[in-house]
Amino acid sequence: MSTQTLTEAKMSHHDLLKDQVAIVTGSGRGIGLSIAKKLAGTGATAVITDISQEFADSGVKEITDSGLKASGFVCNVTDVNSIEKMTEDVMNKFGRIDILVNNAGITKDTLFMRMKLEDWNAVIETNLNSVFKVTQSVIKNMSKVNYGRIVNIASVIGIHGNMGQANYAASKAGVIALTKTIAKEYASRNVTCNAIAPGFIDTAMTQKLKPEMKEQYMKFIPLGRFGSPDDVAECAYFFCTGGSYVTGQVIVVDGGMFM
Ligand SMILES: NC(=O)c1ccc[n+]([C@@H]2O[C@H](COP(=O)([O-])OP(=O)(O)OC[C@H]3O[C@@H](n4cnc5c(N)ncnc54)[C@H](O)[C@@H]3O)[C@@H](O)[C@H]2O)c1
Repeated sequence: MSTQTLTEAKMSHHDLLKDQVAIVTGSGRGIGLSIAKKLAGTGATAVITDISQEFADSGVKEITDSGLKASGFVCNVTDVNSIEKMTEDVMNKFGRIDILVNNAGITKDTLFMRMKLEDWNAVIETNLNSVFKVTQSVIKNMSKVNYGRIVNIASVIGIHGNMGQANYAASKAGVIALTKTIAKEYASRNVTCNAIAPGFIDTAMTQKLKPEMKEQYMKFIPLGRFGSPDDVAECAYFFCTGGSYVTGQVIVVDGGMFM
């Protein structure tokens, strides 16, 4: 390939999402921040939303420091008013929303017998009800213009279950079923909706697990390493760029842990 063609190829890759606006929830750090960075690296404006302005700002800084476009907004995904305000603010500022990544999530692990109703509710509220609320708020703008890409971050736990994670497993299974339903209802509007089911990804969420437990997981990962947030971002990027004929799917990103 000549130097000029190479440069052109590089430029078109960097421009794939030019002018597009991508909202990523819970993107102040971790997997959400990696996804936002990857989309910004392809020309999109990354809308970094998180539970506090401070979290959102630190995500924005990381992206803008590398010369890419990002803008921060507070959005507590459990709070409809906060969500509605964020959507409105983003529409007022940019006039469009092309991509929504529902990423914000928490764990409150404990064995089923000991699980308090408040731990159950908090996880269902943050991981599942949030996807209903944020998507409902954003999708009307996609529907109107016949274009949208929605990516929901589920988990392999939502497919297989896990000891100590009844609330989390149920929330992520719910996200998968909701993904397929939205995919069916909005296909005629050219809005695709897919889910990613990550395995063990090295972030704050998994850093709090005991070393013995991590070793135990490692034994079942054929690729022999924990995933990085960038591994998940690659998959989100696919759904938002090349995957125009892919909808209602769940892609497992787990180093081969479950086959
Ligand atoms: N780390 C893993 O191994 C793993 C595996 C499978 C799925 N996931 C999923 O990936 C997503 C991201 O997780 P992570 O590992 O990056 O964790 P993380 O804890 O590093 O990041 C989660 C982000 O969500 C934000 N958040 C939490 N509650 C919120 C709320 N109410 N409103 C708005 N933002 C909120 C946090 O402030 C944080 O920035 C989650 O949905 C998680 O369930 C993670």
